[in-house]
Amino acid sequence: MACPECGDQLRPRDRALRCGTGHSFDIARQGYVGLLTGASTKMTGDTADMLDARAAFQGAGHFAPIAAAAAHACTAGIDRAPAPDEAAVILEVGAGTGYYLATALAAEPTFFGIALDVAKPAARRAARAHPRMASVLADAWRGLPIRDHSLTGVLSVFAPRNPTEVARVLAPGGRFVVVTPTADHLNELVGPLDMVRVDPDKDRRLADSLSGLFDRIAHTRVEFPMKLTRRDVTDVIAMGPSAFHGTPADDPRIAALPDTTEVTASVTVSTYVPTA
Ligand SMILES: C[S@@+](CC[C@H](N)C(=O)[O-])C[C@H]1O[C@@H](n2cnc3c(N)ncnc32)[C@H](O)[C@@H]1O
Ligand SMILES: [Zn+2]
Repeated sequence: MACPECGDQLRPRDRALRCGTGHSFDIARQGYVGLLTGASTKMTGDTADMLDARAAFQGAGHFAPIAAAAAHACTAGIDRAPAPDEAAVILEVGAGTGYYLATALAAEPTFFGIALDVAKPAARRAARAHPRMASVLADAWRGLPIRDHSLTGVLSVFAPRNPTEVARVLAPGGRFVVVTPTADHLNELVGPLDMVRVDPDKDRRLADSLSGLFDRIAHTRVEFPMKLTRRDVTDVIAMGPSAFHGTPADDPRIAALPDTTEVTASVTVSTYVPTA
């Protein structure tokens, strides 16, 4: 990892990470390192309630096919490491609970992971998500605290991206895997429960933001039905952008649902490599 103030390599010492210039960043009691600087210290990201809901929903396994597809895209057929003496490292930007990165690490016993999120409740959870995962509290929009061309992969699942920075930190041939919802994601719930809709132009905006920096090498639609209880439905709303629009846990529209509702999960998993 790199110092967010000066870019020098960070090394662990006395429950902190320090660079050669003398900047020092504490490792919190909960196991993550705080690398927020400047104005970003006011950024909060997702709330503890959203993280609890997301952990419950992911823990129930409903998004397991998405995690498997993302893990496969990050790891399958890839050179193990950027250099013979270096470990393969995958960074997840906006990692939340760390669920997707943990799935990729489980698939590749030699890989290490860095979970980055601007939300403290996320950084706390990710610190416990996997023994080979480090957790960093940082703002992806302020630059990634990572040395140039040092990573095997970068993963972004339903999360913000910083394409210029991702291109800077990826090793040649490294992969940038982006998972975004399609317009059909959770469509049985979106209308009846007044959830935030996916921008139908999302795919084109993603392509625009990456053009010139990355070439797309794979693009897969992952779509499957889920059987959700009322509890699951409450969680899936509380964990996403609709939570900010106030859907209370005791919403009468959820109470009126049958014991289980079939709901579509629909995402695209896109794999990019830096343009040579
Ligand atoms: C919709 S969540 C997805 C989390 C995780 N990838 C998942 O799918 O479970 C988006 C995450 O991005 C984080 N986030 C938002 N803005 C960020 C930023 N500027 N830098 C880093 N993380 C950010 C939020 O705190 C949140 O955890
Ligand atoms: Zn420094």
